[in-house]
Amino acid sequence: MNILILGSGGREHAMAAKIAESAHCSKLFVAPGNPGMNNIATVVNVATSAFEDISNLIKTEKIDILIVGPEQPLVDGIADYLEDIHEQLLIIGPKKYGAQLEGSKAFAKEFMQRHHIPTAAYFECTTHNLEEGLAYLEQTPPPYVLKADGLAAGKGVLILNDLVEAKAELKSMLEGKFGPASSKVVIEAFLDGIEFSVFVLTDGFNYVLLPEAKDYKRIGEGDTGLNTGGMGAISPVPFFKGDMKIKVLNNIIEPTVKGLAKDGIPYVGFIFFGLIKVENEPFVIEYNCRMGDPETEAVFPRIKSDFVELLIAIQKGNLHDAQLEVIDETAGTIILVSGGYPGDYLKGLEIHGLENVSGSLVYHSGTAAKSDKIITNGGRVLAITTIAEDFKKAIEVSKQNAEKINWAGKYFRKDIGFDL
Ligand code: AMP
Ligand code: GLY
Repeated sequence: MNILILGSGGREHAMAAKIAESAHCSKLFVAPGNPGMNNIATVVNVATSAFEDISNLIKTEKIDILIVGPEQPLVDGIADYLEDIHEQLLIIGPKKYGAQLEGSKAFAKEFMQRHHIPTAAYFECTTHNLEEGLAYLEQTPPPYVLKADGLAAGKGVLILNDLVEAKAELKSMLEGKFGPASSKVVIEAFLDGIEFSVFVLTDGFNYVLLPEAKDYKRIGEGDTGLNTGGMGAISPVPFFKGDMKIKVLNNIIEPTVKGLAKDGIPYVGFIFFGLIKVENEPFVIEYNCRMGDPETEAVFPRIKSDFVELLIAIQKGNLHDAQLEVIDETAGTIILVSGGYPGDYLKGLEIHGLENVSGSLVYHSGTAAKSDKIITNGGRVLAITTIAEDFKKAIEVSKQNAEKINWAGKYFRKDIGFDL
């Protein structure tokens, strides 16, 4: 099988590393990829938005399976576009309609309501029912959760304590604070609990549960400061077992997959369930139509089975028989970021010490090559994952290796897993 992965981050690097091990993978391509992947795949300089170039690449390289890493091309309809041209191609990633589970918060909320999936109470607000939206805020206890309906580069959710400020922000969002993404706003009840992420690979009827993970989104230790794309991850999540796991499977995952089938929404790909445990009940905070980053860097190294066999099972229509073997050990991932991130940061700084890492896996997130050097090329630069018997040991070794890698302004959180 020839396999193409779209994307350029640590998520795609971790997927590529697993797939490169597969007995079923003849040639592996990543577009646009990054220099960290050079030794396991052919890195092709084609952007994830260049659908026509991607189609040409699929044709020239006789690609059998395409895995779409990030959400934007899925929400923009890459699966619809390619499906029409390449009849035999297996595309891992939903078509535009299904991708709305992530691409439209209102679509996701309506879906959950229709299928009785536990989620926060909400109100859908546009300029046409602004007065009702303001009244909804008045009746809701703080903090106030305002979500831009569409994709807003991870910045579209505001959580505010003050009613006056919340009302002003609601108006400003509807007036275009996040562009067209916030022409509709979902106002949600605030849920207080501990967040975790669960993933499935589905063909729209059956699913395989992948290892779960816990992500650490805030820039500062103790979960303080601004939100980022993710500063680290732990897999497995210690409280995802027994009753909690059964509730997630029965009340959330099953009705989601059945709901897709019932609604006639074709869906082949990953579903990322962003969950929150309130007391002992799981609720859905969000769906994503792709894997998480940095969660994938902790989840994929724990997969023991040949991952491509799951994809082949989808192709053959026997995902219901597929088994996934996972290692029992814990993966602890730390993300190394550029100084200033998630605000402004410099790019193009030379990274030193990568060769000194031992006992951990290094996935490149935001790097580039300059002659024979590796330089920074993003806010999140590297992911360091260690597999160990528990998360404390794993994070300890990831930290030791994080200290060995250097560039001007490098920063990482030393407390990943602190709340477990
Ligand atoms: P989302 O993009 O919907 O995942 O929201 C981004 C982040 O905002 C989540 O990871 C949560 O930390 C927080 N959040 C979103 N919705 C809620 C809610 N209803 N209650 C509490 N926190 C929330
Ligand atoms: N780590 C959160 C995400 O991938 O959306």
